[in-house]
Amino acid sequence: MASEAPVGVFDSGVGGLSVLGEIRARLPGESLLYVADSGHVPYGEKSPEYIRARCRTIAAFLLERGAKALVLACNTATAAAVAELRELHPELPVVGMEPAVKPAAAATRSGRVGVLATTGTLKSARFAALLDRFAGDVRVITQPCPGLVELIEAGELDGPQTRELLRGLVAPLLAEGCDTLILGCTHYPFVRPLLRQLVPESVSLIDTGAAVARQLERLLQAGELLAAGPAEARFWSSGDPAELARVLPRLWGAAAVVEALPGG
Ligand code: DGL
Repeated sequence: MASEAPVGVFDSGVGGLSVLGEIRARLPGESLLYVADSGHVPYGEKSPEYIRARCRTIAAFLLERGAKALVLACNTATAAAVAELRELHPELPVVGMEPAVKPAAAATRSGRVGVLATTGTLKSARFAALLDRFAGDVRVITQPCPGLVELIEAGELDGPQTRELLRGLVAPLLAEGCDTLILGCTHYPFVRPLLRQLVPESVSLIDTGAAVARQLERLLQAGELLAAGPAEARFWSSGDPAELARVLPRLWGAAAVVEALPGG
């Protein structure tokens, strides 16, 4: 596998762009292929079997286009499918992501941490194992966020509806005394500015996008697969490509052509 080959990144929709931005910042020489599975969003309310089937299809598509590594820029997809993808492609570096329980447990002073994530992530065996390993004496309070991903997909990052939904979601966590909130879904960093307005300054907001970029760097380095550019980024959507093209300048920082994912 040549080091100039691209890295394949995907999510149920636009959320993974928050991770893609971290990858571009850390590894500016890497060409990137991004698939937004917006025709099947939200993953958070789908069965693990359904998500695994979507992940197999998208991984196959990215590999056909020469991806040298895969990044599941989605906590929900990682919980359901990362083990299977690693089994199916043992030679391939596959980076998944999970809510930042370990750093949050280390950082909390109140001993209470809140996790905002999808229903699918919070119900998964992988999340239960994560708590067993890293929560220790810290009390972890989980908050599923139905409806939030849909608003972010629609580009509603700071409107009144998103504000009200978020306010209601964080209220019980703040009432329990959480001083650290984990953004356990890759869509949520896009509402970080709004969240900042809704929680006291003393509350930390943690996500794992930068850690994923570092892990990708480690794996590429170990496989002597790091690229030095010139880098390009290509985008596909299983939903409406025009819709993704519309939000890219805001969520990725540049306009780009978006193609329809073959097969939808
Ligand atoms: N962005 C995804 C995650 O990190 C899931 C969003 C969805 O429900 O589709 O969990």
